[in-house]
Amino acid sequence: MQLNNPALLCNKAYIDGEWREAQSGARMPVLDPASGEQIADVPDMDSTDTAAAIEAADRALPAWRAKTAKERAVLLRKWFELIVAAKDDLATLMTAEQGKPLAESAGEVLYGASFIEWFAEEGKRVYGDVIPTHAADKRILVTREAIGVVAAITPWNFPNAMITRKAAPALAAGCTIVIKPAEDTPLSALALMVLAEQAGIPAGVVNIVTSRKSAEVGQTLTDSPIVRKLSFTGSTGVGKQLMRQCADTVKKISLELGGNAPLIIFDDADLDRAIPAAVACKFRNAGQTCVCANRILVQDGIYGEFIKRYQAAVEQMTIGHGLEGTFDQGPMINAAAIDKVEELLTDATDKGARIVSGGARHSLGGGFYQPTIVADVTPEMRVAKEEIFGPLAPIFRFETEEQAIAMANDTEYGLAAYFFANDLGRVWRVQEGLEYGMVAVNEGILSTEVAPFGGIKESGIGREGSKYGIDEYIEMKYVLLGGM
Ligand code: SIN
Repeated sequence: MQLNNPALLCNKAYIDGEWREAQSGARMPVLDPASGEQIADVPDMDSTDTAAAIEAADRALPAWRAKTAKERAVLLRKWFELIVAAKDDLATLMTAEQGKPLAESAGEVLYGASFIEWFAEEGKRVYGDVIPTHAADKRILVTREAIGVVAAITPWNFPNAMITRKAAPALAAGCTIVIKPAEDTPLSALALMVLAEQAGIPAGVVNIVTSRKSAEVGQTLTDSPIVRKLSFTGSTGVGKQLMRQCADTVKKISLELGGNAPLIIFDDADLDRAIPAAVACKFRNAGQTCVCANRILVQDGIYGEFIKRYQAAVEQMTIGHGLEGTFDQGPMINAAAIDKVEELLTDATDKGARIVSGGARHSLGGGFYQPTIVADVTPEMRVAKEEIFGPLAPIFRFETEEQAIAMANDTEYGLAAYFFANDLGRVWRVQEGLEYGMVAVNEGILSTEVAPFGGIKESGIGREGSKYGIDEYIEMKYVLLGGM
């Protein structure tokens, strides 16, 4: 791996402004998901190191919280600028450890940086209130204050942006933070810390604990009474467990969990627009995002034509190692992820679904899987219910608008939904009928720092990004002034 600035490839964790080994001395490998080969190693920390990080964040809190929002914004802005300037190196590191194509990695670096730019400004707009009083000798104020020390547990599918989407609002609000990045992708997290340090963010304000002992680190973070807030992005199962663990200390929580996104194509859809959007929505990051289309529902009248054109578009996709050329799809994260796709596909075909394209591991071997389309899928098949998290596009057929809405909502998840239609009445009725935190109409990608990202039902609690995202890191205080 060639970097313009080799200092961005870091092999120590970052706690209290110091680059540290695990106190136990343990280390863990970082692998290239394409080949399984080791590309680096980093400390494999445990509860002792996590406790040290929490204490560092607690010590740093008073001075950081006491800064003005503008003083914090200046440092955040500097961090943003350094990240943008280092975009190419950060993208290379990301592709090396996560596998997504280089252009997608570069896009994620800018997407991640956008949260820092956005929240540097939003931090200045954390206004309070003066409430008209209920008694002549009293006055009522509401202030909004940083919640305190925050813990963030972040996933491997977005090794950069899921960190900045949590750290930026936390820091802008005046909180300090301990981050546990995914064990598969610590290098992107540590490179962000090199730049945070360079930007002048003080020691202890942001800390990274690298570890593959996820349960132990998670337990230490959730048990700690010092940690007042947990923000987690990952599976619904782990999110539920963390939520239970946070109950004893009644922490504020934000959870961005699994999804089962429907992408609905109505008869009146503009297919010139819908086909490329459905490719991006399904196959972005090799299908490994919480908001990727998990079920493609196509109306009767357009079913055959959609499949023909979708197949043609998917078969144009190029597959390869993102550091060796320009490709549309890289490897999946690990063997277990491929096994899951294979299991789901076998279940679907055993129950009568038809493979239209792909359907097997790629001839490149390693972590590569063919972009796959399977048609005539029905609600009894596992792909209808489970998050696929891979490059497998299941296509369902429906007849009426009501049926499409009912099928789309027939899941415990409620993160993102997409549909393509042109009739204005239908557009309004369907967006109203969809039980999802985010709905995109005639678009296949909806992520941006200016809009509230998050789900309902078992897809999570809270919102990230937008003017709402900073509220997750703030407590409201009611102040009554008497004897006036
Ligand atoms: C996710 O998959 O968790 C995040 C996707 C996004 O921000 O677009």
